[in-house]
Amino acid sequence: MKVLALSGSLSGSKTYTVIKEAAALLSEFDSVEVEALNLADLKVEFCDGRDPLTYEGDTDLIIRKIVEADAFVIGTPIYRGSLTGALKNVFDLIPNDALRGKVIGFVATGGTYHHYLAIEHQLNPLASYFRAHIVPGGVYAHNDHFQNGQLTDADIKRRLKELTHSLVSLASALDGERAEVRQPEITRR
Ligand SMILES: Cc1cc2nc3c(=O)[nH]c(=O)nc-3n(C[C@H](O)[C@H](O)[C@H](O)COP(=O)(O)O)c2cc1C
Repeated sequence: MKVLALSGSLSGSKTYTVIKEAAALLSEFDSVEVEALNLADLKVEFCDGRDPLTYEGDTDLIIRKIVEADAFVIGTPIYRGSLTGALKNVFDLIPNDALRGKVIGFVATGGTYHHYLAIEHQLNPLASYFRAHIVPGGVYAHNDHFQNGQLTDADIKRRLKELTHSLVSLASALDGERAEVRQPEITRR
């Protein structure tokens, strides 16, 4: 199964650090082909409502990677109590059925503990819109959980491991169902 681990931060490094750690945990599974992507490394256009097939460059690349993946770990820094605009733009760009029947585990990083429920009320509804399956136990990492740019908190690391293991279990269990879901046109180009 193809898993895309995506960080939605354009500025800092914490979210991508967590995403890379999740990707490393996923790479331990023989059944998983994982790729970690950092939105900060891409030049993604704003969604202007056109057919997703007509974007070019990095915008086309990110749409394609998402369409081709079976499961995702998606991470965002919390901005104003929600996901970043850059990540929301990616959700706006992809075809309506790009995530249908697929599996998503969410992670978020934030500077305050007040926003840990943003995964529940900002990210999970997006997955529901796309009719994706949400892995229970999204991981929220606070600034205190990092030292010298590394994720060091043992409990957060344990939760991340649990999230990635649950992701693989759920995506494997849904394998047959996913094959029956119509894939967007873009995969047949
Ligand atoms: C524009 C902006 C808005 C932010 N809003 C919040 C917020 O509402 N709640 C919060 O907990 N942290 C907020 N933060 C802090 C970031 O979420 C936090 O530093 C995060 O770990 C940064 O992740 P990164 O290093 O991957 O960019 C904000 C940071 C910025 C730059």
